[in-house]
Amino acid sequence: MIASPEPLTSDLRVDGVRLLDRLRVLGEVGSTGDGGCARLALTDADRAGRDLVLAWMEDLGLEVGVDEIGNVVATAPGTDPDLAPVMCGSHIDTVRTGGIYDGNLGVLAGLEVLETLATAGIRTRRPLAVAFFTDEEGSRFAPDMLGSLTYVGGLALEEAQDICAVDDGARLGDELERIGYAGPLPCPGVVPHAFVELHVEQGPVLEAEGIHLGAVTGVQGISWQELTITGQSNHAGTTPMAHRHDAGYAAARIATFVRDLATELGPPQVATVGRIELHPNLVNVVAARATLTVDLRHTDEVALGEAERRLAAFCEQLAADEGVTITSVLLARFEPVAFDPAMIALVEASATELGHSVRRMSSGAGHDAQMLARVCPASMIFTPSVGGISHNPAEYTAPAHLEAGANVLLAVLVALAEVVS
Ligand code: GLV
Ligand code: MN
Ligand code: MN
Repeated sequence: MIASPEPLTSDLRVDGVRLLDRLRVLGEVGSTGDGGCARLALTDADRAGRDLVLAWMEDLGLEVGVDEIGNVVATAPGTDPDLAPVMCGSHIDTVRTGGIYDGNLGVLAGLEVLETLATAGIRTRRPLAVAFFTDEEGSRFAPDMLGSLTYVGGLALEEAQDICAVDDGARLGDELERIGYAGPLPCPGVVPHAFVELHVEQGPVLEAEGIHLGAVTGVQGISWQELTITGQSNHAGTTPMAHRHDAGYAAARIATFVRDLATELGPPQVATVGRIELHPNLVNVVAARATLTVDLRHTDEVALGEAERRLAAFCEQLAADEGVTITSVLLARFEPVAFDPAMIALVEASATELGHSVRRMSSGAGHDAQMLARVCPASMIFTPSVGGISHNPAEYTAPAHLEAGANVLLAVLVALAEVVS
């Protein structure tokens, strides 16, 4: 329970230029050459990004620990060593076509806050920790938020280690060893006093309304499944249409079905087919097999379950009509999460206190904070995303908004960790 702490009223501020410099330097690691980043979880690029951030943490004299699933936590001690730490953080893995802000902002802003406090000689009663969690994106190893889920005990370590990569089939536990991030600290990890995550909004709301910051009230439910359709490969020229069992056609029908479903159900239902693979994937061969992913999200658990049921019924009918088989594997399933009311109020009050316009809003993207919310009070701070673009090299947040978000993070962390005067 957070006892409604007072937000920061001092004139202490982060160094926005230093924060931006670190974001740019980290953005060079795994750069895709178009302003974006490819640091898929547990690849060599991810290792290089980890090594860089870990070196920055050590340069600040923080106590750095790596746990069994590769989460990295850097801690500045509090004056009362028996108290649970106040934690912030996010992730530094990216999607293959990511920007330089998603995740990275929350980690580097946490680092910036700790440096600001250390430079000003400010001590807090509680330890302050900044973490980056393994494989938040989930695009190489599903589910998403895998590291933070394991940190809070929502996924057994052995189960997580046995998950295989969608791209090259590598085992997660082996990849962790290979890049040197299978650490000694146990999972589940230390339960923080509270957790706060600064993140870019990744959507259009703040920019459209001209509001500086978001106080995040919760995260919508997420359902990911991988569907495999098995038909029959055959000659594209000789096989009459009525004789086909075309896995490619069935995949296309599913893709249009989920789009139409989301349109019919209306906001906040969203639905995406983000990956389709055909086999043998040749111009003159009817596809024998298709695999595709479906991402369904909704803020309401019952509505999300209904969308899942509608998709399952459609697939059953489609399989019968086309003479194909369709099987489904659940890759991720998280219910909607509501953040702690006192934490949301603290974010909101801190933003207002610092002179920023702020609105309450829920998150469309998944975040590590939603996992930490299982064990401690949590909330998030959002900064505007230009054009609402994310998971795209063009992702951009104006420096003034990054700095504003980092200063609110500073205020929230200081309020929670209690400055020693
Ligand atoms: C994580 O970025 C997600 O897919 O929401
Ligand atoms: Mn993210
Ligand atoms: Mn992301």
